[in-house]
Amino acid sequence: MFLTFEGIEGTGKSTQIRMLVEHLKRRGQDPLVTLEPGGSRVGRELRRMLLHLESRDITPETELFLYLADRAQHAAQVIRPALARGQVVLSDRYADSTVVYQGYGRGLEPRLLHQLNEVAVAGCWPDATILLDLEPEIGLNRAMARNLREGKAVEEGRFEAESLEFHRRVREGYLTWASLHQDRIFIVDATPGPDEVFDAVRAVMERARTRH
Ligand code: TYD
Repeated sequence: MFLTFEGIEGTGKSTQIRMLVEHLKRRGQDPLVTLEPGGSRVGRELRRMLLHLESRDITPETELFLYLADRAQHAAQVIRPALARGQVVLSDRYADSTVVYQGYGRGLEPRLLHQLNEVAVAGCWPDATILLDLEPEIGLNRAMARNLREGKAVEEGRFEAESLEFHRRVREGYLTWASLHQDRIFIVDATPGPDEVFDAVRAVMERARTRH
């Protein structure tokens, strides 16, 4: 089973993934946890280029192709082999991030981006996607506090430095995109505490499991 997590910065994706891993391990499974950008060896080099504050001069098209390159490598070299071994795969971001950030956020055409994603993933689509939804004001404050705490404000701060307006477009974009893919994308309210959010995440996973 392949599950992806989406949402704006600071929605608690990595906390929820950690909780789900613990849950699955208690049930005797050994899930593979991965992320984008940076889930493969090549991808880790791309991640540095994509997220460093010094990359502010990157054009929207260049950014798009770097994310797609990261994804093609990630799907082929990391996700597909793990699924073939029978592992559950959990990815912190995947194809929907490109449609939403480069499409609704930067203004490229979402349907074209979906087609380019089809090329990049080559059939490797998630069974379910959990969209953690949160007000951008709350999410950004959380993300900036985390970056300062972890000393990552420069190395990984390019998106946090975008305007609140950009993050509002991204949040709305996610909701629009989810409404077009209700069979796969499940919206979870990320406002409550982690335990309450996790109850909803687990319910989505159970649903995906029964369909799988
Ligand atoms: P990351 O530090 O992983 O942030 P988060 O903890 O919020 O996931 O940064 C990933 C950033 O890259 C995030 O701001 C969204 C952006 N992104 C895109 O713009 N397009 C993409 O296709 C992907 C995968 C990520």
